[in-house]
Amino acid sequence: MIFEQIATGGCQSYLLGCPATKAAVLIDPELSRIDLYRGLCAQYGLTIKYVVDTHTHADHFSASHELGKTLRTPVVMHRLAPAPYADFRLDDGDMLIVGDLRLRAMHTPGHTRDSMSLVMDDRVFTGDTLLIGGTGRTDLPSGDPHQLYDSLFEGLLRLPPETEVYPAHDYKGQGHSTIGTEIETNPRLQKTERAAFVEMMQALDLTAPTHLTEALRTNMSGGKTVAQMLSEAAAKVPFMSLAELSTRLSGNRRDLVILDIREKDAFDAGHVPGAVHLPRGQLELRVNSELPDPTVRILTCCEFGKISTLAAATLRELGYGRAAALDGGMKAWREARYPLES
Ligand SMILES: [Fe+2]
Repeated sequence: MIFEQIATGGCQSYLLGCPATKAAVLIDPELSRIDLYRGLCAQYGLTIKYVVDTHTHADHFSASHELGKTLRTPVVMHRLAPAPYADFRLDDGDMLIVGDLRLRAMHTPGHTRDSMSLVMDDRVFTGDTLLIGGTGRTDLPSGDPHQLYDSLFEGLLRLPPETEVYPAHDYKGQGHSTIGTEIETNPRLQKTERAAFVEMMQALDLTAPTHLTEALRTNMSGGKTVAQMLSEAAAKVPFMSLAELSTRLSGNRRDLVILDIREKDAFDAGHVPGAVHLPRGQLELRVNSELPDPTVRILTCCEFGKISTLAAATLRELGYGRAAALDGGMKAWREARYPLES
């Protein structure tokens, strides 16, 4: 079997390939690593047949929606997953066939109600149900320590002790473990009585994961992350450097509309000499009167160079085919001590 464990911070993704057929399955992919997954598939000559999320992740951005769309691959999740883009749903005991590989789904709720583990021959992908030396937390939406107890003690821990454990998170670079090792050494699994286990889980006072809201929003709905919006816009517009703009200003070349899209206070406090003010919030409403010539060259600028990217992409979409964004924004312009007008 072709097997790659890909760590992104503490998040673990897995690429499993069948050497005979070159069919592959990708488990718990992370949004920022799409190019890497595709590169690995190209390197091994693999075609991804399924993208699987073991559960609704609350702490990182799943790549499943994006990969499902771009690769035209089914997105596999448990039947209870809220994500509308999960178009292939599994029940406990269902099996996925990927070339010569067989992956059996075990419904293992507790960390989330849609958590599932995938058992394949000598190994199990446990999602966040069972971690190396830990378990998933049960205090996030749809978590339940009683269910986690059942999923562990009545489910995963009954697998043969030599079964290798590959979790969705591992912050210490341990790679994998086995069911037997976890039963012996995992501190949380030493509470073998239900009441004691539940009490321990409820007493954990964990801080909320970073990006919790954004991760749940995007992973549950299929919506985009802010970074995704920005990178998609950035891929559709050219940029102009601060130095290039400065040269053009001093060269008396007035073939460029510099469009400052910040709020009025910020514009009044100091803007690029000659800039026109059109706040982002009024862009679509006033664009026809402010920019009557669609062939004009436009340079959008904002405070940090991000919203101006979105504005330039909007302008291009509206037919202003020469819209570009200032790379770096007004903060960088001021810091580099380029001229200001107020
Ligand atoms: Fe999780």
